[in-house]
Amino acid sequence: MYHSKITGLGFYVPENVVSNEHLSKLMDTTDEWIQERTGIKERRWIEEGSEDTSAIMGAKASKIAIERAGLTTDDIDFIVFATLSPDYYFPGCGVQIQEMLGMKTIGAIDIRNQCSGFVYALSTADQFIKTGMYKNILVIGSEYHSNGLDKTTRGRGVSVIFGDGAGACILSRTEDINKGILSSHLHSEGKYADKLIVSSPSIKHWVPEIIDSSGEDISYFPYMDGTFVFKNAIVRFSEVIMEGLLANNLSVSDIDLFIPHQANLRISQFVQHKFKLRDDQVYNNIMNYGNTTAASIIIALTETWEKGKIKDNDLIVLAAFGSGFTWGSVVIRW
Ligand code: UT7
Repeated sequence: MYHSKITGLGFYVPENVVSNEHLSKLMDTTDEWIQERTGIKERRWIEEGSEDTSAIMGAKASKIAIERAGLTTDDIDFIVFATLSPDYYFPGCGVQIQEMLGMKTIGAIDIRNQCSGFVYALSTADQFIKTGMYKNILVIGSEYHSNGLDKTTRGRGVSVIFGDGAGACILSRTEDINKGILSSHLHSEGKYADKLIVSSPSIKHWVPEIIDSSGEDISYFPYMDGTFVFKNAIVRFSEVIMEGLLANNLSVSDIDLFIPHQANLRISQFVQHKFKLRDDQVYNNIMNYGNTTAASIIIALTETWEKGKIKDNDLIVLAAFGSGFTWGSVVIRW
């Protein structure tokens, strides 16, 4: 059996920086509230008129990752694209990447697991490599949130949190079974689907309603029971980190780098304190990008790598929790 390791990383965020002060002009909120409750100082939102979409940002991040892996698009065997904000209801963004990057007619799938999307995507790609089916897989997380948010006071509990951006990595076959992805652990609990949801458009609530919509139908905007999600997040994050460590006979003291999904800085800090991790063992960038959902872990991983914070043999733990509910972790020996 093979192992898979990350051989190339890249990310792309739109140029347009949106500060908390800017949001306070759109809705009844303050820089103080947003920073205190979420840790966010600014986020990137795609500007009106920009060509960027989830697929296009994903393609930009992918080009960087492929080049850094020392590969060409012809070397890629498969595409896994995680997003909750696809360009189209169908087909998915994966096939758009195949076209945009001029790739051979390789397979492409979309992963629809929201904040856990990248962890699910990485785990999915890992299985294809472990079985020997593929050698190099392009794994992408990308989100275009800003066009779908309620930017009025009515939506302030959600809209101040989310940002746009994309990250990508190449997962490649290695015969060194002590390196790369050691294990991944995935979970779901669908009874809480309605706690963090965009319920329209859907097959139940389709085109005629959209055309007739007066703009008052909030089912087209994300809904979140923030406090409930927060309480579940801190429990599930902790569980799934321990599950990953125990599966590999490792303990918290073995962690060199923990990259949590950037949901809320207070969630990351809760987990950090619970596991008594030092500041240099945890990487957060929610301050600069907000919550970019399926893109957050891969953007953070790329930034840490670009800053030279990852060394050979480091033990890296990725963990995520979000809508579904879904949650998961990936344990990597770099
Ligand atoms: O990434 C996927 C998973 N997502 C998460 O893990 C997010 C989890 N939840 C959270 O991050 C937090 O619950 C939020 C940041 C969403 C909200 O923070 P909170 O401390 O739970 O605040 P809250 O919802 O309990 O609201 C407290 C007050 C309310 O006012 P009242 O009822 O006390 O008068 C809200 O109306 O804050 C008000 N509020 C705001 N005020 C200013 C809500 N949003 C805002 C805002 N600006 N943007």
